[in-house]
Amino acid sequence: MKNVKPRVHVINGPNLNMLGKREPGVYGIASLDEINQQLDVAAKGCGLELSFFQSNHEGIILDKLHEIFEENPAGIIINPGALTHTSVALRDGLLLFSCPIVEVHLSNIHKREPFRHKSMLADIVMGQILGFGPQGYHMALNAIHQLLQAV
Ligand code: DQA
Repeated sequence: MKNVKPRVHVINGPNLNMLGKREPGVYGIASLDEINQQLDVAAKGCGLELSFFQSNHEGIILDKLHEIFEENPAGIIINPGALTHTSVALRDGLLLFSCPIVEVHLSNIHKREPFRHKSMLADIVMGQILGFGPQGYHMALNAIHQLLQAV
């Protein structure tokens, strides 16, 4: 029988496809592809399988969540971009899952404009990682890896 690795979904929301070009002083110079490639290497090293998804559309992200719900994923890493601050629908969609969910932001949203201080997901995710740039995705992966090893 094939050895199936636990799958973790990495989901990025609106405008994160523009990383590298978008406000590099805030979000850095790495593209989303570069970030994802490095994360994939790290995941292989700890025996996890990653799936990557990005959309600029709230409904398309919800459709994706409904699709992956059926797969019973081992974990979710999500940077919802601006949907973080507005989307009850995304919150409700994530409430479907019992696996660990880590919310990542490249920037520290609490050091920025007041409208970014509120996360609609803060109280339903396992934890948030803010302000560490692309390294935040690695920290989230590490957290999920540790949690999976503990069960
Ligand atoms: C972001 C922070 C959000 O406020 C913003 O809308 C983004 C990126 C971050 O990664 O720092 O698109 O989620």
